Amino acid sequence: MAMILDGKKTAQKILDNLKQNISKYDKKPSLAVILANDSEASKIYVANKEKTAKETGFNFKMYQFDKSVTKEQLKNLILELNLDNSVHGIIVQLPLFNHLDGKEIIGLIDPKKDVDGFHPYNMGKLAQGNPSLICATPKGIMTLFKEYNILLQGKNVLVIGRSNIVGKPVSLLLINEGATVFCANSKTKNLKQIALNSDIIISATGHKNLVTKDMVKEGAIIIDVGISREGNRIRGDVDFENVKDIAGWITPVPKGVGPMTIASLMENTFEAFLTLEGLK
Ligand code: GUN
Repeated sequence: MAMILDGKKTAQKILDNLKQNISKYDKKPSLAVILANDSEASKIYVANKEKTAKETGFNFKMYQFDKSVTKEQLKNLILELNLDNSVHGIIVQLPLFNHLDGKEIIGLIDPKKDVDGFHPYNMGKLAQGNPSLICATPKGIMTLFKEYNILLQGKNVLVIGRSNIVGKPVSLLLINEGATVFCANSKTKNLKQIALNSDIIISATGHKNLVTKDMVKEGAIIIDVGISREGNRIRGDVDFENVKDIAGWITPVPKGVGPMTIASLMENTFEAFLTLEGLK
């Protein structure tokens, strides 16, 4: 029976620590969030970031746009926020409305304020093994490994999903730690064989029940980054009920990777604050 990698508890520990550190300064770290998409999921993600930021002692500014927003409007806002000394972190919630190019918009953020770690400068530093601001979900996953003393060197890790937000950056972080990484996607052949040879499986696809018990080696570590809906329930990529009988460690959905993403974003914003204010 697998033990639980408790993201909620670990995230709360990080946030309590941050709250205490923030209270030592006269100036508050400040996070600006740009929401240019009307999906319910994005609104919920941003509302969770706002609640956590405020509870932890950050200033939070939200810039919400409807479908009529233009590239120029977003560009002007980002250039303004880059120059605003009261703002330390800027994130653009993805995806954007279809007529906007996320990569182009994110490329406008000052890399020192890029607390999502999506700017090509920060992704490049990560690829070099010398990261500054690290994407929140991958950072949260690595923090969970550290919290539970899970060593990565020499481990076979299967990453399912190749997104710029999770799959690619988490693969780079794992490579940097000396893991042997297999990056799979929906077209990968023999996924089951590769999975059965893996010490760790990280799944980030949004497809329910993609990872089933017959794919998991006894004692393997399972990290479920997937989010999808089933009626009122939130589901991950992993068939949790059956996989937990064979895995060694497993993240639940919810209360697994999700809270770690938000806690890591807050850590990045505090780090950007210290750098920009010359406090470290
Ligand atoms: N969309 C899904 N995950 C994320 C994230 O971590 N940051 C942003 N900005 N958008 C997202």
